[in-house]
Amino acid sequence: MSTLKIRALFLPGMQTRDLSAHIPYSAGRGVEEVARDLGLDPDGLVKLSSNENPFGPSPDAIEAVKAAADRIHTYPKAAHTDLTAAIADDWDVDPAQVWLTAGGDGLLDYFGRTFLTEDDRVLAPDPGFAYYPMSARYHGAAVDQYRIEKATGFEQTAQGVLDAYDDHRIVYVTTPHNPTGSEMPLPEIERLAEATGPETLVVVDEAYGHFTDQPAARPLLDEREDVAILRTFSKAYGLAGLRLGYGLVPTEWADAYERINTPFAVNLPACEAGLAALGDDDHVKKTVETAQWAREYIHENLAARTWESGGNFVLAEVGDASAVAASTQAEGVIIRDCSSFGLPECVRITCGTREGTKRAVETINEVIEE
Ligand SMILES: Cc1ncc(COP(=O)(O)O)c(C=O)c1O
Repeated sequence: MSTLKIRALFLPGMQTRDLSAHIPYSAGRGVEEVARDLGLDPDGLVKLSSNENPFGPSPDAIEAVKAAADRIHTYPKAAHTDLTAAIADDWDVDPAQVWLTAGGDGLLDYFGRTFLTEDDRVLAPDPGFAYYPMSARYHGAAVDQYRIEKATGFEQTAQGVLDAYDDHRIVYVTTPHNPTGSEMPLPEIERLAEATGPETLVVVDEAYGHFTDQPAARPLLDEREDVAILRTFSKAYGLAGLRLGYGLVPTEWADAYERINTPFAVNLPACEAGLAALGDDDHVKKTVETAQWAREYIHENLAARTWESGGNFVLAEVGDASAVAASTQAEGVIIRDCSSFGLPECVRITCGTREGTKRAVETINEVIEE
């Protein structure tokens, strides 16, 4: 037993507040970690468990990080302003409507800071992205969930959310949805925003928005005060390690950012890399086209039931997901066991390169057909 644990047993001393309702985030395991456990070369592993970009970051972003290195003794004020302006330009919004944050996760926290008090409740999808309830609880709010049902092909409709809605302060919609890949069409999002109360914020999480042909929720910002959008640099731009995301919010309350922002929460290399990545259309195009190819390849060639996906991943029903994921991992292919999403019979396979995707499909097929 570690000295720390022995101390805790005999010297209970200082206690944290009650964190028993806070469930730790269960992330996909890293390549180095898995390689070490299995005694394998990390270069021989295919990691398709965290919906990362299989091509890595844009080469322009790598150069930007290198170039930023000799300026990291300064606070990132100018870089922050430049990136905000570039994003605003891309989306045709006012720069004040762009809330830069440390990852999309950081934006969820910022919405918590802005809207939630201890009297509030939020409504999150089940299955769904684990950080919605975590972040809401950090801000004192209670969490309810709405079901996205396998029986209906994980279809997402306004009515499906409204069935569980009861004046929640924030309603989270993920489209494309993690881990199922399903989407809520824009008219349904609009219907949902219309049907919920005036004090309910509908957060449209478009973390995987690059990978779908469905229109983004951006036009709703011109018409409504009760919709906000989450976007991230972690997926199509390949900058997950830098922790960079942003919100697009209506003008009516956009100035709240100055009041709730952690000063300089988005670091200088992240801002510079984000700016460079925004300008590298070729890298995004290659990433998106390959993901679209990989989705089709998985649907057509995997010996398991799969669902249509608008994201850079596909959900597949494989039986005992923990056992299948452990077996493919032993063969060097890391995929996501969806037990923690409440889908113990499913795995989520991130779209890889053509080579990586083919190897993953072959390996999973060998395991499930054994
Ligand atoms: C649905 C969804 N939203 C938001 C995020 C947050 O991403 P990040 O904090 O890396 O920007 C993720 C990450 O996987 C996600 O799957």
